[in-house]
Amino acid sequence: MSKFDSIDFFTDPSLIGDPYPYFEYLRSKGPVAREPRNGVIAVTGYDEAVAIYRDSETFSSCNSVIGPFHGLPVQSAGDDIRDLVSSYRSRLPMNEHMVTMDPPEHTNQRALLMHLLTPRRLRENEEFMWRLADRQLDEFIANGRCEFINDYSQPFAVQVIADLLGVPEEDHRLFRVRLGLNPPPGTIRQRDDERFSNLNSLAFLDSWFTAYIEDRRREPRNDVLTELALAKFPDGSTPDVVHVVRTATFLFAAGQETTARLLASALKILAERPDLQRTLRDNRTLMSNFIDETLRIESPVKTDCRLALRTTRVGGVEIPAGTTVMILNGAANRDPRRFENPAEFRIDRPNANEHIAFGRGAHACPGGPLARAEARVSLERILDRMRDIRLSEAEHGPAAARRFQYTPTYVLRGLAALHLEFTPIGGA
Ligand code: HEM
Repeated sequence: MSKFDSIDFFTDPSLIGDPYPYFEYLRSKGPVAREPRNGVIAVTGYDEAVAIYRDSETFSSCNSVIGPFHGLPVQSAGDDIRDLVSSYRSRLPMNEHMVTMDPPEHTNQRALLMHLLTPRRLRENEEFMWRLADRQLDEFIANGRCEFINDYSQPFAVQVIADLLGVPEEDHRLFRVRLGLNPPPGTIRQRDDERFSNLNSLAFLDSWFTAYIEDRRREPRNDVLTELALAKFPDGSTPDVVHVVRTATFLFAAGQETTARLLASALKILAERPDLQRTLRDNRTLMSNFIDETLRIESPVKTDCRLALRTTRVGGVEIPAGTTVMILNGAANRDPRRFENPAEFRIDRPNANEHIAFGRGAHACPGGPLARAEARVSLERILDRMRDIRLSEAEHGPAAARRFQYTPTYVLRGLAALHLEFTPIGGA
């Protein structure tokens, strides 16, 4: 009997601060095992997780975000529920977003997105990131302290996506205000709000992009939004405006929280480990591996679900059709069969980049290169401009008794706040 037998992973707040002992409890039952409370099959094994990610014929993404709470009548529906899922799909939450789609709809929608992520666009976007990193740091560096998520990582991540989509720089301030992020100093909230007074933040994104896409279809220009507006599905047909808009706005949902939490985890690790600050400062070639090791040990997407469309077996375990399969990226990335001493942070771990923090297969994160670039640019500029980065004892307690708050969700793993102190380099 374990204390975890009676814990509900999906609702118990005691697992939020440190879910890893629970993940090890699940692993002790096997790499593929039944989670005791909700009838979900939990996958903690690395190879098994990759196999499921790659098999979108058997495992549908229709519940990828909502997990077991999909509401489909799957009990006693037989050994093949493909028709059932097809007929109910439009009632499932998030069904309009590509992350829940299966082929062929998913293939089409994803092709549209890939028009945005061309090597040229990513290069231009990275040039913007360097300017943005400095601008963002300028806002608080002279104080010698910050709440890193509000002051840096969230506004940084949202403006990178805004730039990727071709939002002019002068409108970025509006995005910060409308998405509820810490606005830059000098922002006049009232005036910005008036321009969008009747819109809530997501409706704001939809309306904004609909107006732009319609405008660019009427009058094409030489800009990113025009490229997106004129993109076609692989069969040559022109998507409805709503499909293009969803592709654009979903990037804010997919790429903002995740990247902001990755940056916060990286800074927490550095603040706790002055030795790593020194190593990284002296040897910047370790940066990519440092970022991958951070993604491995603190995977921002903790869980990712699938629905078994037909009865099958993985890792020797039978998975009946209709079962929710929960891939625990945060556990698979600590599978000792793949990563030696997995709970240890090793900046020079030779296979750190084999982690599955970005998933695998047809839905593998298309924003992975972007997120890595955001982390690299940010860390480079932070190390250039700050030294002696440390945790605020007033906020996080003394070294022997630290306290941290994590966002209370079963999907994401991330700090709710990270209070840092540091010495600005060169008087800022
Ligand atoms: C550290 C940062 C990030 C992490 C850990 C992450 C993780 C993931 C994971 C695990 C998936 C797969 C979901 C599945 O298979 O069900 C995914 C999908 C996705 N991500 Fe990311 N992501 C990150 C950043 C980004 C960024 C910056 C963007 C935007 C440019 C982005 C856009 C997307 C999109 C559009 C999908 C859906 C792809 C599809 O369904 O085909 N992500 N992400």
